[in-house]
This record gives sequence, structure tokens and C-alpha cells, in this order.
Amino acid sequence: MATHRNRPKPVIAVGEILMWLLFTVLLVPAGAVGWAVGHYTGHHGGTRTVTVATSAAPATTTAAAPTTTAAATTAAAAGNAAAGKAVFTSAGCGACHTFKAAGASGKVGPDLDTATAADAKTAGMSLSAFVDQSIVQPDAFIAKGFPKGVMPGTFGQSLSKTQLADLVAFITGK
Ligand code: HEC
Repeated sequence: MATHRNRPKPVIAVGEILMWLLFTVLLVPAGAVGWAVGHYTGHHGGTRTVTVATSAAPATTTAAAPTTTAAATTAAAAGNAAAGKAVFTSAGCGACHTFKAAGASGKVGPDLDTATAADAKTAGMSLSAFVDQSIVQPDAFIAKGFPKGVMPGTFGQSLSKTQLADLVAFITGK
């Protein structure tokens, strides 16, 4: 009786052995492949990322360099005396100043033909630097015998840098 009851057991055991064999056959190589993939990816992947990053970085730097070089090429142009004559007339300088080259005979301010060169010496400045300062900041140096605060102090804002340079070139004769 006992042997009859025990008979089904070996059948189950054989099935279990087949199952374990199947597991072993499938899982062991799968695990080995998985470990190998993980192991090699870890090493090679890291090295490749560094190589890509290093080759990309110098390319970006080289591309940005010409932009900086191009922006630096902005030089201040020298004043144009002929253009300065037109500025002198349109700004109304002649209403207060005598200046033969402009056909002006104003008497409110100093005679730019005679007084200005002497005043530049007194101020210890070059003629062009003195004329430039006298136009932008009239009160920085007050010509002897003339009132302070009469010449407008707004020419530094109303005239462009080019107009100012042209005006200085015209008055200094350069
Ligand atoms: C409303 C009258 C007035 C106008 C307009 C005027 N100026 Fe004058 N300017 C003066 C007087 C007054 C002085 C003398 C006082 C001083 O040194 O600031 C003077 C001084 C100067 C000086 C210094 C001269 C020196 O020998 O010290 C220069 C250069 C000059 N003006 C240039 C100009 C120019 C250029 C303009 C036009 C953009 C102009 N001025 C417009 C009244 C005027």
C-alpha cells in the first residue's frame, strides 16, 4: 500500500529535475551575459563619454574666438573740419563767437581766432583738448573777462561724438 502511495513522487521529482535543469540551462548563461555586459559597459562607456566631451569643447572655443576679434575693430574717426563748419553754423556758435573761418562775428563770447589759443596755454592743455572741454563743459575754464554760465552746457548731449570731433577739428584748424 505504501509503495503504491509513493509511486507518484518520482514522477513529480523527475518533473522538478527537468524544471531545474531548464532553469540552470537558461539562467546561468543569461546571468553570465548580463554580468559581462554590465562589466564592460561600465568601463568602456565611461571612457567614451570623456573622449566625446574633450573633442567637443575645443570646437566651441575656436568658434567663439573670431566674434571677439571682430568686435574690437571700432576706432574713433578723426574730426572732419569741413563737416565741423556746418556744425558750427547749425549749432548757433556764431551768434556768440567771432570766428572768421565761419564768417561769424558774435561778441558775447571770446574771439575764437585770437583768445582760444592763449587760453589753452593758460589752462595748460593742448588746443584740441581745450576746445573739446570748452564745448562740453564751458564752466571748466572761464575765459578772462567773460561771464560764467552764459555758454550753454548742453552741447555734450545735443552733439554726437562725430559732430563734436568735426567741430574741434574746424576750430583748431586741423
Ligand atoms: C549764448 C552764447 C554762446 C553760445 C551759443 C556758444 N558759446 Fe562758446 N562761449 C560763450 C562764452 C560767454 C564763453 C566764455 C566763458 C567760458 O569760458 O565758458 C564761451 C567760451 C567758449 C570757448 C572757450 C574760448 C576761450 O578762449 O576760452 C570755446 C572754444 C567756445 N565757447 C566754443 C563754442 C562753440 C563751438 C559753440 C557752438 C557749439 C559755442 N561756443 C556756443 C558763449 C557762447
